[in-house]
Amino acid sequence: MSKIKWPGSALLAPVPPVLVTCGNHEKANVLTVAWVGILNTKPPMTYISLRPSRLSYEIISETREFTINLSTVDLVKAVDFCGVRSGRDVNKIEIMNLALEPGDAVKSPMLADSPLCMECHVKEIVALGTHDLFISDILAVHVNEALLDENGKLHLDKAGLLAYVHGEYFGLGKKCGTFGYTVRKNKKKKKGIK
Ligand SMILES: Cc1cc2nc3c(=O)[nH]c(=O)nc-3n(C[C@H](O)[C@H](O)[C@H](O)COP(=O)(O)O)c2cc1C
Repeated sequence: MSKIKWPGSALLAPVPPVLVTCGNHEKANVLTVAWVGILNTKPPMTYISLRPSRLSYEIISETREFTINLSTVDLVKAVDFCGVRSGRDVNKIEIMNLALEPGDAVKSPMLADSPLCMECHVKEIVALGTHDLFISDILAVHVNEALLDENGKLHLDKAGLLAYVHGEYFGLGKKCGTFGYTVRKNKKKKKGIK
């Protein structure tokens, strides 16, 4: 594969374009965030990176709370709109007709149409340059019951999750493996079943 070298740039892909809600149920705001990720397993920790110019930056710095709502193909219009309009100018929740559900661990509401919502509490804010990093605890996770099977196993692949790749939105493609499948013993083979 012949490659050309570019200066360092933020070109990780795919990334999840999540909808982050902040404020409280009565006065909430929502913005789209693609600079998001998991930092630690136990305690469960996440981060979002926000530009100080965002209204949500102001709100989250003050309340130190927010909710990450995973986005789906059905939510793509809201994902884009909430990423190009500020709550300073318009009420994005009303315009996009987003139904809110009250938070439990934090005051920020959750989006009813998101399959998985994470309630987060900010631990530390680190200035990096263009963006500030909000290192946060994940206090609670709310999952759409329809995605659980009879054994309580989560099938997040059935949620129609959205991916963001260099300025474009995509639904997820077809499954091409499972965690550890390359080293997993084939039980059927072991028992001599062909
Ligand atoms: C796909 C996408 C991803 C985005 N990711 C981020 C991000 O990671 N951090 C950020 O500060 N802004 C990001 N934005 C821009 C904000 O969502 C946008 O500026 C928004 O209007 C801010 O809203 P607010 O002023 O109501 O908080 C993204 C926008 C889009 C469309």
